[in-house]
Amino acid sequence: MSVNKEIKRITTHILQEMKQRGEKIAMLTAYDYSMATILDDAGLDVLLVGDSASNVMAGHETTLPITLDQMIYHAQGVVRGASRAFVVVDLPFGSYQGNSKEALNSAIRIMKESGAHGVKLEGGVEVVESIQRIITAGIPVMGHLGLTPQSIYKFGTYTVRAKDEEEANKLKTDIIALQDAGCFAVVLEKIPAKLAKEVTASVSIPTIGIGAGPNCDGQVLVVNDMIGLTKGFKPRFLRQYVNLYDGILSAAQAYIKDVKAKDFPNEKEQY
Ligand code: KIV
Repeated sequence: MSVNKEIKRITTHILQEMKQRGEKIAMLTAYDYSMATILDDAGLDVLLVGDSASNVMAGHETTLPITLDQMIYHAQGVVRGASRAFVVVDLPFGSYQGNSKEALNSAIRIMKESGAHGVKLEGGVEVVESIQRIITAGIPVMGHLGLTPQSIYKFGTYTVRAKDEEEANKLKTDIIALQDAGCFAVVLEKIPAKLAKEVTASVSIPTIGIGAGPNCDGQVLVVNDMIGLTKGFKPRFLRQYVNLYDGILSAAQAYIKDVKAKDFPNEKEQY
């Protein structure tokens, strides 16, 4: 399917219509201006400035260390590079869990200082009050259920969530609560495909899956994983479209060779 270039800017309303007509939503993460311009040109519907920046950009083991200031810095570049995509920014760990006022202040900082179009936060019924307060201020909110990486020390593992009935039932209750609170979409991360299909059918807002099977209303991947920049990371749900690790490695090796051999710069490459 070709990208609709007539659309000036994707909105939450357009995402809702896409669900209604069965058109899948394509979302990828982005953390800087250059990548955002490429992904926006490609026609991505949504760019997520994910707190996975903590892993893939900063080299941390988890998403917990990244700060609100750092998220805003990443978001500013992405917003400058995206003229069509809807840009959503993760509220980082510690910027919204305290209380709904703190959550609202963090969301306002992201919107004001980066120019993003919405925020995402992790959790179900326990974050509903914060979600309502943020939405009341006019800020679109995307939810995130299933494997929520900011709770990794509670889970103890990055394995598939909601395999047992109790956790699956909580997820079913949570997604309804997020919809009722006014979320415009919900990310479902690493849950059984059957459960994702069931909860997607139970709500009128779009679900965006990562490791949640084909029946979500859209899909998201961490861009660094999907372009093969993250060496050795190949979970079952990941499709790697290009191997940039090897491409950049050979380019860097060729450059080193040319410099050492005094072959770069040549006569045409100087003033
Ligand atoms: O931070 C992130 O990249 C995310 C996606 C995995 C959905 O939240």
